[in-house]
Amino acid sequence: MNSIGEIKNYLKENLSSERYFHTLGVMEEAVELAKRYNIDIKKAEIAGLLHDNAKCMTKEDLRKFIDNHLPDMDKNELKNYKTLHAPVGAYFAKEKFKISDPEIISAIRWHTLGRVNMTTLEKIVFLADKIEKNTRDIEYRNQIIKILDENKGELGLNMALFMCFVETVKSLAERRLYICKTTIDVYNWLLESIEK
Ligand SMILES: [Fe+2]
Ligand SMILES: [Fe+2]
Repeated sequence: MNSIGEIKNYLKENLSSERYFHTLGVMEEAVELAKRYNIDIKKAEIAGLLHDNAKCMTKEDLRKFIDNHLPDMDKNELKNYKTLHAPVGAYFAKEKFKISDPEIISAIRWHTLGRVNMTTLEKIVFLADKIEKNTRDIEYRNQIIKILDENKGELGLNMALFMCFVETVKSLAERRLYICKTTIDVYNWLLESIEK
């Protein structure tokens, strides 16, 4: 695996300065959440740092890359290009940055869409991406942290994620945009998990 320093240098050179600032925020937030939920801090740090590594690619390049290297990807996912840097970034994490841990790879892979039965690491990276301190809305962050403070363990994580999915579904519907089946499945899964 490449060292954290080498990865940082690559990202600094290849991402916009705002995206790099966001990336460092996600890394720090993922570490904080990993401590809170007692999971491997190093895995959270690397997944947070690498989550947007393919964000510098254009829509066309992402589509072309997926055609050539990830031909089995669910076609549903291809409808919103904004999510495509996640599967491509997961591929690069493995091939370019030599990350062999499947948990780190899948946290990068699912950070845009989420998935049913997400692991704790996947949930943490997903949330860190929404609430990091450097570039995200502070009010939104405070609401999520409040949910985590008031509801212990996985329940709190699932309630916080559910709030994110409600926002996503609302905003897609209001703009008359396609809602990927995965998003609906994750929404329903989270709803059931918090109402048990
Ligand atoms: Fe992303
Ligand atoms: Fe991000």
